[in-house]
Amino acid sequence: MLNNSAKLLKTPFTHLKDISNLLMHQASGPARASKPVSGVTFTPEPASGGKKFRMQTRNLTVRYGTTIGVEDVTLPIYDKEVLALIGPSGCGKTTYLRALNRMHDLTRIASVTGEVLLDGTDIYGNDINPVNIRRRIGMVFQKPTPFPTMSIYDNVVAGLKLVGIRKKSLLDEVCERALKQAALFEEVKDRLRSPGAGLSGGQQQRLSIARALAVDPEVMLMDEPTSSLDPQSTNRIEELIHTLKEQVTIVIVTHNMQQAARLSDRTAFFYVGHLIETGTTNDIFTKPKETRTEEYISGRFG
Ligand SMILES: Nc1ncnc2c1ncn2[C@@H]1O[C@H](COP(=O)(O)OP(=O)(O)OP(=O)(O)O)[C@@H](O)[C@H]1O
Ligand SMILES: [Mg+2]
Repeated sequence: MLNNSAKLLKTPFTHLKDISNLLMHQASGPARASKPVSGVTFTPEPASGGKKFRMQTRNLTVRYGTTIGVEDVTLPIYDKEVLALIGPSGCGKTTYLRALNRMHDLTRIASVTGEVLLDGTDIYGNDINPVNIRRRIGMVFQKPTPFPTMSIYDNVVAGLKLVGIRKKSLLDEVCERALKQAALFEEVKDRLRSPGAGLSGGQQQRLSIARALAVDPEVMLMDEPTSSLDPQSTNRIEELIHTLKEQVTIVIVTHNMQQAARLSDRTAFFYVGHLIETGTTNDIFTKPKETRTEEYISGRFG
């Protein structure tokens, strides 16, 4: 059996690349998202029931070369809701999620068309700095992504240091706040200077969440954040999501229908790159309009 550190050393490079992209890089060269289809910035429509849009995609299409990842997805994301993205493997959930904070910018073959609005502004606009976008729209990946050689403390404050914050008292304060929000503080408060790689898988995932929270995101994107965790760690992260939604808008990808039902306010069902149906989680799970949705949530395929 590999211990945690050994496992981390074997973390696929893509995960380390993802997290460093998330924290550091700006888009450049041909990987940068292409211009919106229409070139027009839409004003988000007022949502029914007075709910405010926090984000919205309009006719969003992501291609990898000639392969379509998602096609023509128009979907609102309301302020301080949990939106669950569900659907069978390969149907475009991760592709959609990564478009929401410009994570495709550094995938050479990826191109993005359509619009992704954050508070009415297209995040792919020419004058938008993707680093700022990724600070406002944080991301947690399926596998925990601590920097293996960094301490727990340095992992949490990595994003702040990158933007030049050096004041120790502020870093200490944010570190404690983020670890508390991620329900990890009590377990690590006496070993903040130990390597993040020495934590269990569930603790590492909460550390990744703490790092994402440290920069105070307005939106949090979570790609199957509990899929590699035991039931106890899963519970803790679900409780955390439940609490977080008072402050943060959350989009979560999950293959676990019970988790989607427990956690989310609205659910979007994807199938072969298309958004098939979206609605309140209650409606999607009790009276879906589309046969494919019904077949998927009742476990008949996928
Ligand atoms: N980097 C890439 N290069 C080429 N094709 C890709 C890449 N990433 C995803 N795809 C393709 O895009 C489509 C959607 O993939 P995506 O990863 O978004 O699916 P998913 O719904 O997240 O699946 P899963 O549930 O297995 O995570 C698939 O056909 C996939 O093969
Ligand atoms: Mg995926």
